[in-house]
Amino acid sequence: MLGRVAAAAGTPVYVYDADHVRRQFQLLQAALGTIPHRIHYSVKANSNLAVLALVRHLGAGADIVSGGELARALKAGFPPVDIVFSGVGKSEAELEAALDAGVGLINLESAGELAVVRRLGQGRGTPVAVGIRVNPDVAADTPHPYTQTGRSGMKFGVPLDQVIPLARAIAAEGDVMLRSVGMHIGSQIAAPEPYAAGAARLADLVAQLREAGIVTLTSVDVGGGLAISYGCGPGIAPSAFVAAVAPLARATGLPVLIEPGRFLVGNAGCLLTRVLYRKRSGGREFVITDAGMNDLLRPSLYQARHEIVVVAGAGGGAEGAGGAELSSGPSAAPSAPPALVDVVGPNCESGDFLGLDRQLPGAVPGALLAVLSAGAYGFGMSSQYNARPRAAEVLVDGDRFAVVRRREVVEDLMRGETTTPDWTEA
Ligand SMILES: Cc1ncc(COP(=O)(O)O)c(C=O)c1O
Repeated sequence: MLGRVAAAAGTPVYVYDADHVRRQFQLLQAALGTIPHRIHYSVKANSNLAVLALVRHLGAGADIVSGGELARALKAGFPPVDIVFSGVGKSEAELEAALDAGVGLINLESAGELAVVRRLGQGRGTPVAVGIRVNPDVAADTPHPYTQTGRSGMKFGVPLDQVIPLARAIAAEGDVMLRSVGMHIGSQIAAPEPYAAGAARLADLVAQLREAGIVTLTSVDVGGGLAISYGCGPGIAPSAFVAAVAPLARATGLPVLIEPGRFLVGNAGCLLTRVLYRKRSGGREFVITDAGMNDLLRPSLYQARHEIVVVAGAGGGAEGAGGAELSSGPSAAPSAPPALVDVVGPNCESGDFLGLDRQLPGAVPGALLAVLSAGAYGFGMSSQYNARPRAAEVLVDGDRFAVVRRREVVEDLMRGETTTPDWTEA
């Protein structure tokens, strides 16, 4: 299948497997069992419209962080009431668009944001449903510090000691209504303990709010962050995650909102790329591919390890990881153990790599490689850096596939630009 996709759509191309998304969703649903809950897919993980529509059909709501994600979620058919708007820096225009659309919940992250929502909410007839994203001061042991978001001193959420005053300010207003308290403590969290610690803090807060006479909550939000396996290292067992957050549902009697992104789509996708060249320099062996850091940023940004396999040899060949008998590259000796190679992209950056120190004996010019576990934060974080059109995206469903985002062309790179500026005197 992957060879046929590459032949039809070219490379680099992201390929997503619909069945994998369905299975992950069902795993999570099954683990949640009878606990009242709602799954809001975190759109940022993979915001392709076809993926969004797939997740919506499974019964998920959406978790968004921008006006652009709002537009995507609406276009994919999510009912506005099933959309939760999170994010530390929502602009006034984005908040207004969300209120106009009628999103179900706006998770506030500061008193300043409350002031804007209040003003925008005036005269709308019904109070705006807001939540407070709490910073529970919980350290989650994520693989990279950039993916932690729940510790004190970080930009995310409202510090614990400011939550009750903010809730009182909300309760004092007629145009807003406090409907939720929540957290999102990071991404790629493999252990249940941080969830349990954060959930306990949220349960405490709900009790304090009720003591303060604030009884308008209709949900508690435990965010996303559920880890998957990237080949080495475990993901989180859905049952362990559920065991960690279930006490919050029991203690509060409220439904739990969950915002998984990576868990649903991460291992559903791979990035297909062709080997352009091989070369040796300073004792290192390089496999140069037609995908680079502008297509998949995670290795460069987070030093994330993605497994890379040979799908087909030069000129097509049999499919299967390393399955084809492949002619050696110029520097590969047939009888010697395969050299470790660095798989690098065409971008003009030394940090442009897809994988370092890999054993890939079949990675000769023309071979097709698959960078695995690239369904989350892959295409969404890609860019046109070095004026490289972004990759195509393909959805596979059973034995069919469809291009769900066409490959960008050079004209896309220059859309909206001009060589003859229309000056405004300032
Ligand atoms: C508020 C919020 N919810 C959910 C997520 C999804 O995280 P993950 O893809 O790790 O599940 C994120 C990711 O950054 C987030 O910021």
